[in-house]
Amino acid sequence: MNNFVYDIPVRVYFGENQLSNLGPELARFGKRVLLTYGGGSIKKSGLYDAVVAEIKAAGLELFELSGIAPNPHIASVRRGAEICKEEHIDVLLAVGGGSTLDATKFMAAGACVDFDPWLFLSENAPIRDALPIVTILTLSATGSEMDSGGVISNPETKDKLGRLAPPMLPKVSFLDPTNTYTVSPYQTACGAADIMSHIIEVYFTTEQDLQLLDGVMELLMRTVIKYTPIAMREPDNYEARANLMWTSSWAINGFINGGKRHEWTCHPVEHELSAIYDITHGLGLAILTPRWMEYTLSEATAPKFYQFGVNVFGIDPALPQMEVAKKSIEMLGDFFFNTLGLNRTLSEIGIDERNFPLMAEKACNGGEIRGFVTLTPKDVEHIYRMCL
Ligand code: NZQ
Ligand code: ZN
Repeated sequence: MNNFVYDIPVRVYFGENQLSNLGPELARFGKRVLLTYGGGSIKKSGLYDAVVAEIKAAGLELFELSGIAPNPHIASVRRGAEICKEEHIDVLLAVGGGSTLDATKFMAAGACVDFDPWLFLSENAPIRDALPIVTILTLSATGSEMDSGGVISNPETKDKLGRLAPPMLPKVSFLDPTNTYTVSPYQTACGAADIMSHIIEVYFTTEQDLQLLDGVMELLMRTVIKYTPIAMREPDNYEARANLMWTSSWAINGFINGGKRHEWTCHPVEHELSAIYDITHGLGLAILTPRWMEYTLSEATAPKFYQFGVNVFGIDPALPQMEVAKKSIEMLGDFFFNTLGLNRTLSEIGIDERNFPLMAEKACNGGEIRGFVTLTPKDVEHIYRMCL
């Protein structure tokens, strides 16, 4: 195994009735707060009123930026960075799902530079600093509440690009499972597919690593498989929502990575789908992942699929290795498409093959994806076609 550095200094308030800590936490960073949110779900749920009350009670000054779209646009980031500069904002408070949190991270970084924040994504411009970020998560999926990453869309260039940068790590995150009670069954399912994918991207590796980490990943995946259908059936089941929420954070907060160096595969391949067709990230991952697995399964990779099948889906270990491997992929597809009810193909959601060559080139970023199995643009194109 490789050496690694583990450094995730996010203070997490997990559970119900923790909002009384919000005012004092924000006040640690100053008086002027920019509250950011999406299309209004927090107003419907009543969370907006509760948050504003806490900010006022703490004697802080409130500024707002709303309307952050799913697959957040660079225009929101630009506007947020401007507000931070014009209003001398001290701290940003993102309340919402991954889109709101991601956009807010780049606003916080954009506030500290005098160039267009899109350059952080398109040109890898340095992110040396960011204003402090506090989050209140309302959807369990991306793990943005506990990682330093974000993904931003530019509809003009049809790009959707991601970036990690330690200054964008939230200082504090409030994870109250009851804030996810209003998430629809569809978004709950998409969030679950995203969490599964974050683990699968790391789990499927040929690098040697700690058994501990494989065991943790298997438990995280079993947790998603167990609790997502419950949360979809019973939206206010606290145990289910709590398990999904904490799993979303731990799937991507760096812990399970150990020292693995391989690249993620399904994510860059999916981001091209979201970039061009504006589909929900988790849905794209659900459609792609089983096909990517079928494409990468071989005598050489079968042992990892066998481990996945036995330890995550409980397939009989006495069966031949290749049989278990194939069954594990079927069972993952069954979970996404039958249990969670997500669309099975790209055709079903109106996507045809016309953009596949360009998308495959962009997903490979001018080279190859060096993941579990190295993929060229031709391979990626083939995987898109398998999803039709
Ligand atoms: O905008 P509002 O009105 O809040 O509605 C949202 C949105 O329509 C709604 N929603 C959120 N919380 C809700 C709720 N509706 C009812 N009740 C609630 N409590 O759900 C819809 C989707 O929200 P969004 O934030 O887009 O979803 P998600 O959390 O899945 O975020 C997806 C974005 O995150 C990126 C994705 O690419 C995508 O752009 N990712 C970010 C990552 C990261 N930061 O590390 C990693 C991921 O792999 C991912 O790429
Ligand atoms: Zn994801």
